[in-house]
Amino acid sequence: MDNFWQKLKPSARGGRPILALAPMAGITDSAFRQVCKGFGADVVYSEMASVAALCYNPKKTLATLTSDKKEAPYVIQLFGSDPKHFERAVKLLTDKRRFSKFKIPASPAGGKNSKLPQGLDINFGCPVKKVAKQGAGAVLMDSPERAREIVKAVLDSTDLPVSIKIRSKVGATTALKFLDGLSALPLAAVMIHGRPMSAGHSGPVDWQMIKEARNHFGGVILANGGAVDRQSALDLLRKTGADGLGIARGALGKPWLFQQILNFKFKILNREEVFKIALKHAKLTEKLKGGAGIIEMRKHLCWYVSGLPGATELRRRLVAVNDLAEIKKILK
Ligand SMILES: Cc1cc2nc3c(=O)[nH]c(=O)nc-3n(C[C@H](O)[C@H](O)[C@H](O)COP(=O)(O)O)c2cc1C
Repeated sequence: MDNFWQKLKPSARGGRPILALAPMAGITDSAFRQVCKGFGADVVYSEMASVAALCYNPKKTLATLTSDKKEAPYVIQLFGSDPKHFERAVKLLTDKRRFSKFKIPASPAGGKNSKLPQGLDINFGCPVKKVAKQGAGAVLMDSPERAREIVKAVLDSTDLPVSIKIRSKVGATTALKFLDGLSALPLAAVMIHGRPMSAGHSGPVDWQMIKEARNHFGGVILANGGAVDRQSALDLLRKTGADGLGIARGALGKPWLFQQILNFKFKILNREEVFKIALKHAKLTEKLKGGAGIIEMRKHLCWYVSGLPGATELRRRLVAVNDLAEIKKILK
């Protein structure tokens, strides 16, 4: 088993922390992952994928999960509640023969976007009602037996390194207690979103809980929550002692954040430089997703121009773009 997490550990790279693009549904598609990778993200996560969908609608679901070799190491995040679904989905994702049977088209433009992942992640952190109603995501932290069965099913079905993403607390279950229940299972990494499930995506981050988990767990620990610039990222690292960070919203419209965190000399980008990156991102999205990608790109374009002079007027035009030519015209 090639455990890329071990190679990324700060102790193996002269103290350099691991910077991961955290999973975001509707956002961390292949184009955005490639852009973040280009700016120094060490590892990138997919949007969460339903194991039930992988079992019952495999071709369509697989097509949304393929990656380019530039993205490696690429981690697919899975959610669900049935260990059997996890087992089947994992076998499908990691067995080259089964995977190739589906003849997943590369991309509308014929690129080679058809690589299997280098790692798998299980979602124990999503608080969204639609997911919780299925008994999946963060609510599983309050069902330790079921959670353990799921982790075991995944570990038993693949040679790839397996990680989990958890919350600092769900109900009465702390991250520490949850990890205790999974001890002896060879998990490679844990990303801890330091906010309790009840807080959703806002409010303070429990640094102490992440620090305690760090001292408790032998694998890689990534701290997540509130790293939006170099200072907040370094604070989160220092206060938790984590091996690295999961960065989510901080990278929206600012994929260079990964580079900025590591390089104190990184200079603020000017408008032209930001536009150039936004356009490159849009071109790649169109290449991989065709016209539908441009509609999805609208929100990214608005994030890119946020804070720039004239942002309100730019946003008004960017939310209505339908093709690359229109984007070029606006960002000229
Ligand atoms: C729009 C959006 C979608 C998200 N989708 C996922 C997801 O698919 N899987 C997951 O584990 N977390 C998901 N998250 C949570 C993030 O990975 C991250 O834990 C959270 O945003 C806190 O990190 P941040 O403060 O750096 O944004 C999502 C967050 C947002 C804002």
